[in-house]
Amino acid sequence: MEPDKQKLIMIVDDEEDIREVLSITLTDMGYDVLEAENGEKALKLFRENRPMIVLTDIKMPGMDGVELLQKIKNENPYTQVIMITGHGDTDVAIKSLKYEAIDFITKPISNDALEIALQRANEKIVTRQQLKQYTENLEELVREKTMLQDNLSSLGVMIGSISHGVKGLLTKLDGGLYLVESAHGKNDHDQLKEGLDILKLTIDRIKKMIFDILYYSKEREMKVENINLLEFANDVADIAEQKALPHNIKIVREFNDAPPEFKVDSEYIRSALINILDNAVDACIEDNSKDRHKINFTAKQDKKNIIFEIHDNGIGMDKMTRNKIFNLFFSSKQSEGTGFGLFISKNIIQEHGGFINVKSAKGKGTRINIKIPKEFT
Ligand SMILES: Nc1ncnc2c1ncn2[C@@H]1O[C@H](COP(=O)(O)OP(=O)(O)OP(=O)(O)O)[C@@H](O)[C@H]1O
Ligand SMILES: [Mg+2]
Repeated sequence: MEPDKQKLIMIVDDEEDIREVLSITLTDMGYDVLEAENGEKALKLFRENRPMIVLTDIKMPGMDGVELLQKIKNENPYTQVIMITGHGDTDVAIKSLKYEAIDFITKPISNDALEIALQRANEKIVTRQQLKQYTENLEELVREKTMLQDNLSSLGVMIGSISHGVKGLLTKLDGGLYLVESAHGKNDHDQLKEGLDILKLTIDRIKKMIFDILYYSKEREMKVENINLLEFANDVADIAEQKALPHNIKIVREFNDAPPEFKVDSEYIRSALINILDNAVDACIEDNSKDRHKINFTAKQDKKNIIFEIHDNGIGMDKMTRNKIFNLFFSSKQSEGTGFGLFISKNIIQEHGGFINVKSAKGKGTRINIKIPKEFT
């Protein structure tokens, strides 16, 4: 309720003298006063001004006070209505209490009786406001509690999932270290290289995971900059190749139609693309049904967008998996995956105003299409 309305009061009486006297008294008490000489006019003024207190005579030609009381309560049950009664209409006055009038005062109106009735009305208004505020505060508290609970439980899932991922990575570090140590003793260069490759790859995975966690856990301002798309795409392909080549997976670069430059937060888009290429490599490694595996990595443009495409001929996905891949923590890779990758990639792409589209067929492969609008740049 607006505070000024609280001081607004309406007097309804067909006798002008009574209205005048009441108006002076109420103005002296600090109220803003509206006057109406009959029920119809009162209702119109009520609708226009929404006073919080109405003082109405019961006996009036046309719409009487009780009818007006009912209409007002119907439109706003929180308006407080004080009935003015003449001698002999106590019955009607009592009836009006049934319709939720706050009080009634008899003519001739004494200032004391008026003040007491107004005090009751004001107390009711204040109590109701407090109640409303308590309810709102309570609702806010319940909302905060629910949010806190949700955050806590997703934190729990996250910690579980990360610990799982870290455990897998530590096992790999141990394996790499073992190879390096034993190769060192034997002076076996091939094994040394193999061990170092495992260590490098695992450290890259740890870096990626930490980057993902940081992205998820804190807000970061976007750092949009002009980048050379060809250099950028080659750079991303190089990183993916480190993981792909040892498994004989070819990364086919198709960057001929790429625009020379575009503006993005390159650190983030790089991370999104590497996540997706990483998945493509995993999908090829897991697939035993084909002799040769390759991943086509395309950067091109149409009128409105920069387009990246990553197309692998790995294991592909069934519909159920396909529907869950963007969910946080969804991973089909047990200890090898945290389920962060695509969740974060999608967020990054959406932050750039773009979208990601996935087509996949089990046993055949997966095609991921990313569009980032040029006008974002
Ligand atoms: N190219 C793909 N081919 C087949 N399945 C895929 C492909 N990309 C994603 N998926 C499926 O989507 C799941 C979620 O991918 P996401 O990158 O979010 O997590 P992850 O790779 O399991 O773990 P990480 O957090 O290490 O990336 C994968 O576990 C896999 O089941
Ligand atoms: Mg992944």
